[in-house]
Amino acid sequence: MRILGIETSCDETAAAVVEAGRVVHSNVISSQIELHRTHGGVVPELAARGQVTAILPVVRAALAEAGIEREQLDAVAVTQGPGLAGSLMVGVNAAKAFAFGLGRPFVVVNHLEAHVYANWLVLPGVLEEEPPPLPAICLLVSGGHTELLLISSERRFTVLGRTLDDAAGEAFDKGARLLGLGYPGGPAIQQTAQGGDSTAIPLPRAWLGERDDFSFSGLKTALLRAVAPWRLPDEVIAPSASPFPEHRPARFRDDLPLADLAASFEEAVVDVLATKTARAARQHVVRSVLIAGGVAANHRLRERLVTEVAVAFAPETPPGVRWPHLSLCTDNAAMVAGLAFERLRQGESAGWDADVFPRFPISTAPFDEDSVTTSH
Ligand code: KG4
Ligand code: ZN
Repeated sequence: MRILGIETSCDETAAAVVEAGRVVHSNVISSQIELHRTHGGVVPELAARGQVTAILPVVRAALAEAGIEREQLDAVAVTQGPGLAGSLMVGVNAAKAFAFGLGRPFVVVNHLEAHVYANWLVLPGVLEEEPPPLPAICLLVSGGHTELLLISSERRFTVLGRTLDDAAGEAFDKGARLLGLGYPGGPAIQQTAQGGDSTAIPLPRAWLGERDDFSFSGLKTALLRAVAPWRLPDEVIAPSASPFPEHRPARFRDDLPLADLAASFEEAVVDVLATKTARAARQHVVRSVLIAGGVAANHRLRERLVTEVAVAFAPETPPGVRWPHLSLCTDNAAMVAGLAFERLRQGESAGWDADVFPRFPISTAPFDEDSVTTSH
């Protein structure tokens, strides 16, 4: 069964063809990073309008890359939420029209569950693995969400903890903006941190005791304080083209230890994420530890997680730590098409009246075979 997936929940316009819920035949992503960079973040109206023009070329490219005709598709799937309403509407309407025109089932999925499902996908010739053994702990870390999930052997989800304020990706984005590193912040911080000393600048960690929750807003404030000695007084900074102060680049003295600051900030975020995930993995005696979402692309997070899981399980053999291929960590449509296969196996498809669901919460049984059909 070949499914076309469409993803437009934030600023990307993506389409992909996935076979049997696992094999990615194409994965096309049209980024709007340049469009939003000048604003320091995603501008919802600009994002949706960009998607209106990008959607058809992206779908065509996904079919061409997969080497199939549209008539060979068995279903069309789309992200219903969570995300920006205007952006979601573009994808949902396009997918609905496509499915209707082809006379194929139309499937809607939750973006967060799709991120987790990316761990089940395989790229032909690049990554060919068995599905992760369950039970598993999955750390879902994206621009809008940070959740620690327990996935039971029956594929049921329990949210063990979540962020009380900023999401991990949001912390990276805000930290990067504060350092004048631009958007998106995660890759910018990771790159700048190379060669930096992660112990150079002491930054706090919000451990929150035994709880599995996270908090990153204090870290942002601490970074603001840490850079204060290098900040130039306002009168020295040349007037910026932007009328909005928060959109002006930060201005610091030339001797700002940027690499050390980026490395220390990255370590502070990753330290808490990796330690808490490893602790939960030990507590729940899982067989796999997974990461998902845009921040799963972070090399230091991957590295630290492997170390922390080994430490938490020693002297026993630790469970495998896995993450999706880099192209499947940040927003993509392959994860949507993959999860849709599970939905269809459960006999779930959406009606032509399906709406977008901008605040769609993660469900307890996203790909459990016994789960009840939900409609939104
Ligand atoms: O999952 P995603 O593509 O979109 C959402 O659903 O939010 O995640 C985007 C987030 C952004 O905050 C971005 O800064 C972060 O993922 N990100 C990273 C890296 N690549 C992307 N954070 C840390 N290190 C990275 N290499
Ligand atoms: Zn996402």
